[in-house]
Parts: sequence; structure tokens; C-alpha cells
Amino acid sequence: MLTEEYSVLGEIPKPKELAELCLDEIFVNVSGLSAGYGKMQILHEFNLSVSEAMSLCLIGPNGAGKSTVLHSIYGFTDITSGSITVGNTEVTKLTPAEKLKTAGIAYILQDNSVFPDMTVEENLLMGGYSKDAVEEAFEETENVLNKYERLKNRRNQPAKVLSGGERRLLEISRALIMKPSVLLVDEPSIGLEPRYIDMVFEILDDLQNSEKKTIILVEQNAKKGLEFADIGYVLVSGELAKAGKGEALLEDPDVGRLFLGG
Ligand SMILES: Nc1ncnc2c1ncn2[C@@H]1O[C@H](COP(=O)(O)OP(=O)(O)OP(=O)(O)O)[C@@H](O)[C@H]1O
Ligand SMILES: [Mg+2]
Repeated sequence: MLTEEYSVLGEIPKPKELAELCLDEIFVNVSGLSAGYGKMQILHEFNLSVSEAMSLCLIGPNGAGKSTVLHSIYGFTDITSGSITVGNTEVTKLTPAEKLKTAGIAYILQDNSVFPDMTVEENLLMGGYSKDAVEEAFEETENVLNKYERLKNRRNQPAKVLSGGERRLLEISRALIMKPSVLLVDEPSIGLEPRYIDMVFEILDDLQNSEKKTIILVEQNAKKGLEFADIGYVLVSGELAKAGKGEALLEDPDVGRLFLGG
């Protein structure tokens, strides 16, 4: 049950309404998911649908379970019921390594996950650790370096010399070495100055629109997140409280008052 404060958001959206927000066939589908950590259940009958090359942003209060949604899709939680599919593949019970390999799901860790004493290039190569062919990791590393000059210029320097924004770029691009189709991104803007926040969203925009990645992100900066994403979901107490086009949620007075400081 939603708490009083959030009850203005209305009825829990039905799967059919979630499907209608997708511009195309559903690619990532989460259905009736109950999940948590050990005996502690965090998500209750949670549904999510997004098409390929679309972006979806989860917003909501601290502790609502936003990161837990990403953890569940990636395989870090205990799932008690429901299912997760990517394309035609059911991935509900797969391990993270299997999900990356069979369904191309990549999880971009929150800040400070680079190896500070390794070079930029070595950090990128680490992103390909589970590739069968080492040459492929080298090849993809080269592709990433060619795409992002900021990293190329520092390829032989230790990651600790990077600025906050460059470090976030390295974290995102390290996930690209495995050529994933789905990117799970937890709070890309956290701890960054405004100019770097814009840079990170430009990179995500390019990955969605030029490289056709499907992006599911969590963003504390609800305004930025909803401006970026095609679809917005509001999560409260482990339940979906509202769903709409990102731009529609930005205009919604209740969402504004509760999450946009308006
Ligand atoms: N690894 C874990 N083990 C046990 N409980 C956890 C774990 N991670 C999160 N939780 C609990 O699950 C609940 C939801 O947490 P979650 O991190 O998903 O929230 P969130 O919406 O991402 O919050 P925030 O905005 O603060 O990041 C919280 O009560 C939290 O204490
Ligand atoms: Mg979180």
C-alpha cells in the first residue's frame, strides 16, 4: 500500500498501460516481480516494459527500491515470484555473468568502480574479462577509445588522474566492451558538477539513439532523468505508483510537487 503522501499518484498502472508507453514491440519485460534480499521482500508485484532502443527512468523516494529493480534485472536479488524476459529469452534465474552473455544485459556500477592504479586502457580491457576471445576485448577497447577522445588522450595514464566526469565516462564505456544491448545505469549524475552531468546524458543519448541500446536508469535528479528518458516510472515502497512518458511526468503537478521540488 502506498503511504498517504503518495496516494495522490493514483492507481497502480496496469501492464497494458505500460505496454502502451512502448513505441514498438516490448524488449525488456518484467512481470509480477517480487524480489528482495534474503527474507526481506522489497519489490511487490512489480511490472516494467520497454522497447528496444528506448530509455526508461525510475524515480522515487530514497529506499523505494529503485536500485533493487536494477539489481533484480541484473541478478543480484532473491526473486520469489514473477519473470524477467529480454527479447524471447527468459532470464529470471540466470546469474549476472549468464545474463551478460546470453541476453546482453550490462550493469553500470555506481561511482568509484574504476581501478585507480590501472591505466585507462587496462580498465577498459577489464570490461571484457568474461569474453571468450581476448582479441575481441582488445578490438572493442580500440573502438571505445576511438569513439571517446577524452579517454584516448589518457589511455596510458592511471585512472586516478581522471576528472569525475571522465571517470564516469570510463565506467560507462567499460560496460560497452561486452557489446551489451541493455544498459542498467544507477544514478549516472551522482557526485558530478553540472557540466559533467550534461556530458553523461549526452553519452547516454548517443548510446540509445546511435547504437540502439535499451537504457533503464535510476536518477535522483528526477528532472534530468525525465527530460532524458522516453518513459518515466515512479516507484514508492517497492510498488509502481505511476508511469507515463518522461515529458508527461515532468508536467504532472503531483510528480512536480513530490519529486521535482515544484
Ligand atoms: N544488499 C542489500 N541487502 C539488504 N537490504 C538491502 C540491500 N540493498 C538495499 N536494501 C534495502 O532495500 C530497500 C530498497 O533499497 P534500494 O537501494 O533499492 O532503494 P533506492 O530506491 O535505490 O534508494 P536510494 O534513492 O536511496 O538509492 C532499502 O530498505 C534497503 O535498505
Ligand atoms: Mg538507489
